[in-house]
Amino acid sequence: MQLDDVMRTTGAIRAFTDDPVPDDVLWRVFDLARFAPSGGNRQGWHVVVVRDPAVRAAVRAAAEAGWEEYVAFTRAGRVPFGAGEDGRWHGVPDDVDLTATPLDRSFVQGLWAAPVLAVVVADLRQLAVLDVEADRQSIVGGGSIYPFVQNVLLAARAEGLGGVLTTFLARHEDAVRDVLGLAPYQGVAAMVCLGVPDRFPTRLTRRPVEAFVTIDRVDGPALST
Ligand SMILES: Cc1cc2nc3c(=O)[nH]c(=O)nc-3n(C[C@H](O)[C@H](O)[C@H](O)COP(=O)(O)O)c2cc1C
Repeated sequence: MQLDDVMRTTGAIRAFTDDPVPDDVLWRVFDLARFAPSGGNRQGWHVVVVRDPAVRAAVRAAAEAGWEEYVAFTRAGRVPFGAGEDGRWHGVPDDVDLTATPLDRSFVQGLWAAPVLAVVVADLRQLAVLDVEADRQSIVGGGSIYPFVQNVLLAARAEGLGGVLTTFLARHEDAVRDVLGLAPYQGVAAMVCLGVPDRFPTRLTRRPVEAFVTIDRVDGPALST
């Protein structure tokens, strides 16, 4: 595949066929993904491919709990765990009931049929978090891990696989700390589900360049051709 075709069609895939993903294919995916950039080239990622049914069950329970809380925010019309107008986190708003249980679980159930569940763990000691003392939510640390995760998805697409980056598990990472063997300096950056998709998206919904690239200032003129 051409790079631009891969980039334009690597959409989130949450429904998979039963086809297995052979280890040599999975290896090639990670072999390409490892060329991702990271701060200081410290490559602070580690991938746990979850196979043991007991580990899978623990990961599932923790991730579903995170998903339920995510849904509680969206039901209240809010961006889940998003910052306020001042860029800071102000706690769970009063109109969000984190204990409510979603009735329709189809969204999250598709993920558990994925042949590959890969938890991407970050070594927090290796992340230079330049905005750690900023008076707003931090952005920078994950930037040394998520390019790698996107590379996994791009490399998977080129292998005829699909998948999705999920962060539901991070909400309850302490629940899987022991079962995954996480050290105190390690945190969950993502859980990536991979497999052979029923179908690939042909057209992703994304904002045009003019909507997010401006000259000199955030409210400057849009870059146009
Ligand atoms: C940082 C990040 C976190 C995400 N977390 C989740 C998640 O927890 N669960 C999920 O199903 N999808 C998750 N996604 C996938 C997005 O929902 C998806 O990329 C986006 O909606 C675009 O979907 P599309 O490619 O189908 O257009 C996440 C994506 C990113 C980049």
